[in-house]
Amino acid sequence: RQVLLINGPNLNLLGQREPEHYGQQTLAQIVDGLSQQAQSLDLALEHIQSNAEHELIDAIHQSQADFIVINPAAFTHTSVALRDALSGVKIPYIEVHLSNVHAREPFRAHSYFSDKAVGVICGLGAQGYQFALEAAANYLRALKK
Ligand code: DQA
Repeated sequence: RQVLLINGPNLNLLGQREPEHYGQQTLAQIVDGLSQQAQSLDLALEHIQSNAEHELIDAIHQSQADFIVINPAAFTHTSVALRDALSGVKIPYIEVHLSNVHAREPFRAHSYFSDKAVGVICGLGAQGYQFALEAAANYLRALKK
């Protein structure tokens, strides 16, 4: 089974970007850890980070994944197009945010993704991705039965 991890704009700056919100770990460190976790869960993990909306949309269209873990970053609050891409391919997904988007500026409380997601995780830092990957494995295991 295959899982696609998608990270949106500015997440390439993790480690240096507002560490009080997003933690000290770089994206490469987070993805390394998730790749190891995926192996132990018997999942193939692919990753894309892009600052360009169309690149994320194209990656979703081309994906053969069984499940998506996505942190849409600022596109969470703006992108009907990315939402429609996910609906278009019908791949189930979990939405992850490092920070607690409900404890910040009011505009971060609205997401174009949450109502269609299998689940939403926020405020737990990079751990949120680990929980999402584990939940993805459980979801896919339950499907097989
Ligand atoms: C974020 C929260 C968004 O509001 C913000 O635009 C981001 C990161 C998070 O992981 O906490 O870029 O998705």
